[in-house]
Amino acid sequence: MTTAEWPILYREHLDIVRSRADDALARAGLDALVVPSGTLHYQLFDDRDYPFATNPQFKAWVPLTRNPGSWIAYTPGAKPKLVYLQPRDYWHVVPQAPSGYWTPHFDIVVIREPEEALRHLPPDPSRCAILGEPQSALGAYVPDNPQKVLNYLEYHRAYKTPYEIAMMRAASARGVRGHRAAERAFRAGASEFGIHLAYCQAAGQDSETLPYGNIVALDTHAAVLHYTDRGTVAPRPPRSFLIDAGASHGGYACDITRTYAHDQAGEFQSMIDAVDAAQQRMCAQVRAGVDYRQLHLDAHLALAAILREFGVIRMSPEAALESGVSSVFFPHGVGHGIGLQVHDVAGFAASDAGGTIPKPDGHPYLRLTRTLEPGMVVTIEPGLYFIDMLLETLRQGPHAGEVDWARVDAFRPFGGIRIEDDVACTDAEPLNLTRDAFAAA
Ligand code: GLY
Repeated sequence: MTTAEWPILYREHLDIVRSRADDALARAGLDALVVPSGTLHYQLFDDRDYPFATNPQFKAWVPLTRNPGSWIAYTPGAKPKLVYLQPRDYWHVVPQAPSGYWTPHFDIVVIREPEEALRHLPPDPSRCAILGEPQSALGAYVPDNPQKVLNYLEYHRAYKTPYEIAMMRAASARGVRGHRAAERAFRAGASEFGIHLAYCQAAGQDSETLPYGNIVALDTHAAVLHYTDRGTVAPRPPRSFLIDAGASHGGYACDITRTYAHDQAGEFQSMIDAVDAAQQRMCAQVRAGVDYRQLHLDAHLALAAILREFGVIRMSPEAALESGVSSVFFPHGVGHGIGLQVHDVAGFAASDAGGTIPKPDGHPYLRLTRTLEPGMVVTIEPGLYFIDMLLETLRQGPHAGEVDWARVDAFRPFGGIRIEDDVACTDAEPLNLTRDAFAAA
């Protein structure tokens, strides 16, 4: 797919967004949808703002991510309106005049002051679904986030349009550039902080634009699932490197994790290779009709088999899953939906009218319990970790004898392994957006 196709894909995407809005409004008995992009948030007792996070309901319509104070207003049957704030401000860079392939599909009104938006929103706010955060309120346009509308839109957002897949491929290409630079920096002996900078430089993004804070972990730091401290001194030599870092494009995220060993002929590298092979088999399970909960439980069995193969546990994979021992080494979910948000919404939604699909007992951190269907994009991110806190509990419990603690101690200095790809479910073979991007790089 080339960027030349994006305008057509976008038009088709917008048709779907409009049609979903039509249905959502009909369900709620409302006349119009109003979506503020959001406003800046300030630090307590300070005039410093946090990085701006656009309302995902807004960027579902337009690829605008740096535009606080703008609004989408949509009435079924009419062309959507974009009220576009371009303030007169010589302190900050203000948004450029709207341009790009998406602009012909909107009636665009440029305003200079946030309050001017009031004149351009639908006449009766009580007949609108207003989707946004409380501080976006403007006059009588106070976000009310009707549950029926949110349930419908969030449920269907799991099914990505071809345009959204294209945006996620572009994000993946950017993320892969960062990952390759990060591996080079690791091999050259850089600190976590230095690797992070190398990543940002190559990806061309930083905390203002990355979809989440980079996790850059050397050695035992890889045992902290969301390690974000970024040490400035590298261990000499480092043993291992886990990087979980994404990128964004057009408001869409990628989420990629890789793990590397310093000694590429050593046993830890062999364990990485085993997790990588298992991860690819899990990616192949991203098929229509597969219950993601089963995929998660199968991941436990596969990872427990690796632990047994490497002499860490003595019990069968089934016993490891049943007893909770596999959760000591794999204490998070196998993945989540991804798209406009790195952890996409509605992971537990039973239907577009509401309801919840429960998590399997004993697996509190699984973020997705839906059955996979074409269009869904999910992460597949199995891991094996040597986490002191969890190992201590295991050592004091009834299954301690099923563990070879000398083998645990041998792997403990490496921290852990996680391999993560973003995978799209189709009505045939899955598309691995991450591996495709690495292959193309
Ligand atoms: N990859 C970071 C996260 O899923 O939270």
